[in-house]
Amino acid sequence: MNAVQLSAEEFRALADRVVQLATDVYSGLDGARAYPQVSAGQTRRAFDEPAPEEGLKGTSLDALADVIEMSRLPTPRFFGYVLGSGEAVAAVADLLASVLNQNVTAWRSAPAAVAIERQVVRWIAEAVGCPGLVGSLCGGGSSANLMALAMAREAKLPANEVGAQPGIIYCSGEVHMSIAKAVALLGLGRNSLRRVPVDERARMSVSGLERAIAEDRAAGRSCIAVVASAGTVSTGAIDPLEPIAEVCRVNDIWLHVDGAYGALGALVVPEKYRGLNRADSLSVDLHKWLYQPVDCGLLLFKDPLAARKAFSYTEDYARVIGAGPDEDFAFFEESMELSRRFRALKVWLSLRYHGLGAFRESIRRDLEHAQHLAEAVRECPELELLAPAELSAVCFRYRGDHGPEGLDRFNAALLQRIIENGVVYLSNASIAGAFALRACFVNHRTSRADVAKIVPEVLSAARTILAGARQ
Ligand SMILES: Cc1ncc(COP(=O)(O)O)c(C=O)c1O
Repeated sequence: MNAVQLSAEEFRALADRVVQLATDVYSGLDGARAYPQVSAGQTRRAFDEPAPEEGLKGTSLDALADVIEMSRLPTPRFFGYVLGSGEAVAAVADLLASVLNQNVTAWRSAPAAVAIERQVVRWIAEAVGCPGLVGSLCGGGSSANLMALAMAREAKLPANEVGAQPGIIYCSGEVHMSIAKAVALLGLGRNSLRRVPVDERARMSVSGLERAIAEDRAAGRSCIAVVASAGTVSTGAIDPLEPIAEVCRVNDIWLHVDGAYGALGALVVPEKYRGLNRADSLSVDLHKWLYQPVDCGLLLFKDPLAARKAFSYTEDYARVIGAGPDEDFAFFEESMELSRRFRALKVWLSLRYHGLGAFRESIRRDLEHAQHLAEAVRECPELELLAPAELSAVCFRYRGDHGPEGLDRFNAALLQRIIENGVVYLSNASIAGAFALRACFVNHRTSRADVAKIVPEVLSAARTILAGARQ
């Protein structure tokens, strides 16, 4: 037997141990800290060792206890960023995906995996009200946004042969940072990103967009794409998609919708997403509001030819010589990735196991959690809401007569204290320049009781800081 091969018995023994550890993690989540009590020095020391020349065999797994102890576990009270909660059926599927080790480049390399991925893409497109869109899974929203803008550029101002020409991308000031990153990577330069003003609900101003386009056109500049947000990362604001789509149609501009966080809300409140189906491309992160373990992004688009125009560049060794359109299908012709893992297996199994209805129900609960927290903040004189809770993110802060900068400093210290206390995990956002505490509900394990812990935790941390300051 090869030196790195396992017998069936060894595999079974290892897998059983890992499954036992995983089961213990899941069973302990309710009582676990929302953030581990650990320093960077401790994590470095725990794993700082030379690569062993001789294998440790079964004892190599002993260190997994440290890995678990020093990990931020997917507890019901983690409300930071936009991080989904890692659904268990999907986690089991991930093990099998690695065992099968399909390279989902093309149908001929991974027949079942390609068919399943195309099916999952159809399911999600239909679920968010965009039947007919096609696409592929990818690492996450950042990759999906980059690919979308590469497609937009190739459609409107081809660059693949001659290099990037100057062209403008429009978005609101609330757009996710991955858009500025993509514009830079595509060689358009961040100066070509027009940040259109927003209204009082942080949504892109349509008249502002029209004005910016008219100014650029008058100055002889090329307009490539508008990036509308269907759920901004800070507050969950949804840009007015229908009128923006109309502006794009009239001006022959590509419409990309960044729905990495929010698009899955369309399963529950489709009326908030009117116009979504007019997008040329749409990012949806299944590792956010579909609770899939990372990584699992999705880029949907209307026109597979536009994807091929942007991404198809096939050397002879990779050319697909197949028997029919489905056998010839290659994801690498429509994506920047060549080697791709079998991400679709987890989504497919988890949707089959629970049913779309269960996810709809869970997303509905997340929306309700946000309303309950917003209500609790409104009722608490020490706190103030800083933005409407449009979807499942709530931005608020501790009030006080510290002046604007003092308030920011106080709330930043408060956030640090809340995280150290470990009962709930919040992150932060900047709302009109002010430091906000932010809770985002994309967690299928969260109950009403978990949400009810947030305000008391914030108040207790604030009292501790204030008492310390008085001493
Ligand atoms: C609106 C939005 N777009 C894009 C991204 C980037 O997604 P990822 O972290 O999967 O690259 C995020 C992440 O939070 C997001 O909220």
